[in-house]
Amino acid sequence: MDKIEISGKHPGPPGTGLCGKLTIRGAKNAALPIQCAALLGQGTTRLRHLPRLTDVSTMNGLLRELGCSVAADMDARTVEIDPDQVGAGTLEAPYEQVKTMRASVTVMGPLLGRFGRARVSLPGGCAIGARPIDQHLKGLEALGAEVELAHGYVELRAKRLIGARFSFDKVTVGGTQNVMMAASLAKGHSLLENVAREPEVQELAVFLNKMGARISGAGTDAIEIEGVDALNGIDHAILPDRIEAGTFAIAAAITRGDVLLEHAPVDHMHAVIDKLVEAGVECRVEDGGLRVIGPERIRPIDVVTRPHPGFPTDMQAQIMVLAAMADGASVIRETIFENRFMHVPELNRLGADIVVNGNTAVIRGPTRFSGTTVMATDLRASASLVLAGLVADGQTEVRRVYHLDRGYEAIEARLRPLGAEITRYHGAGA
Ligand code: EPZ
Repeated sequence: MDKIEISGKHPGPPGTGLCGKLTIRGAKNAALPIQCAALLGQGTTRLRHLPRLTDVSTMNGLLRELGCSVAADMDARTVEIDPDQVGAGTLEAPYEQVKTMRASVTVMGPLLGRFGRARVSLPGGCAIGARPIDQHLKGLEALGAEVELAHGYVELRAKRLIGARFSFDKVTVGGTQNVMMAASLAKGHSLLENVAREPEVQELAVFLNKMGARISGAGTDAIEIEGVDALNGIDHAILPDRIEAGTFAIAAAITRGDVLLEHAPVDHMHAVIDKLVEAGVECRVEDGGLRVIGPERIRPIDVVTRPHPGFPTDMQAQIMVLAAMADGASVIRETIFENRFMHVPELNRLGADIVVNGNTAVIRGPTRFSGTTVMATDLRASASLVLAGLVADGQTEVRRVYHLDRGYEAIEARLRPLGAEITRYHGAGA
């Protein structure tokens, strides 16, 4: 397993931190459902601007197992997916696959909608929570699917899905995406209510409509779908990653740097930008991106994670590091996942003063971080450890960085030109 070593330092005067320009890559959480949606198209779908992430490669592997021909050229950041042979395949996402990446469950809707059957391993819990898929299944049942749970798998069947009205009990990104994809090929009209409004849900609706679907309302709390008989493969560019952009914005802020985040999707980042500005960080929309300038003093902030357009849970671990650098006490409440504070013990080992009580963390700053060896536990937690390492005196070693590689492309190679002293060691560390 790889590890990353950072030779950090407590921030100096403004302008002495990370400086320069960094290109924001395609969004992992847009690419993964869109890769699944390619199953719906007759003919080849070509995706561009893909991020070079293990999760994207893992999804390509699942599509191949399902019978797709998948031609990935990750140097060119493109993939061509032809699902022509899938109907003759297993229509199954096996345990080994789903265990590796729970986003594999998002093949359910497309397989069921187009081929009338899907067999998917139930995703176990994961580090950040139980993350059941009950809402996915309830929504697909509402469209007429027969659902059977046995031996750790869910089997879904339907001769032809029938459009329906369905209201989610809970806002779920994946659930909204699965049911929206299935309903695209159902017979008749569907009205989905209490849906997720994330930009990646909106982007999937744009993608499906380009394929020939008839979807409206994505981005609001209700989506209407007029089912069609067939969809076509298309060419599509993946939108930039708002979470990656937010993560690097915090790197610039805490090091008192000045970084231009090229292609940052500012329109999808209002909650994060507003919170950065509240903390005293200068954020300027310029040159088709976001310029972030770290201040002399950082003000404490209160954060509550919410479904979009609220503050994203995927930025919670990262903004906790900004809060640790603030003059005073900040409060962060995590309302989406039940166990998403695993970065706290590791940040405290780096010198933070964070106390967790239930789903609320109190962070007392300012912190003088000091480097040590820390263990990554999940994707965004590992990003927060790298951020803290940048401003920690001495050496910080982050182990199990495979978590990081799931959602951040070559983070060390992209931070180094900005002035970070950061190196990856292959195969080393626990
Ligand atoms: C997506 O996960 C993202 N992943 C997550 O990003 C993100 O944190 C999450 O949305 C919330 O924004 C991808 O898009 C691949 P949910 P998803 O269904 O769809 C509960 C990252 O770091 N729930 O919106 O799995 C669930 O347990 C990852 O990039 C049910 O109870 O999230 C959770 O508490 C982490 N029943 C809450 O809803 C269900 O049927 C939100 O989950 C479905 C979900």
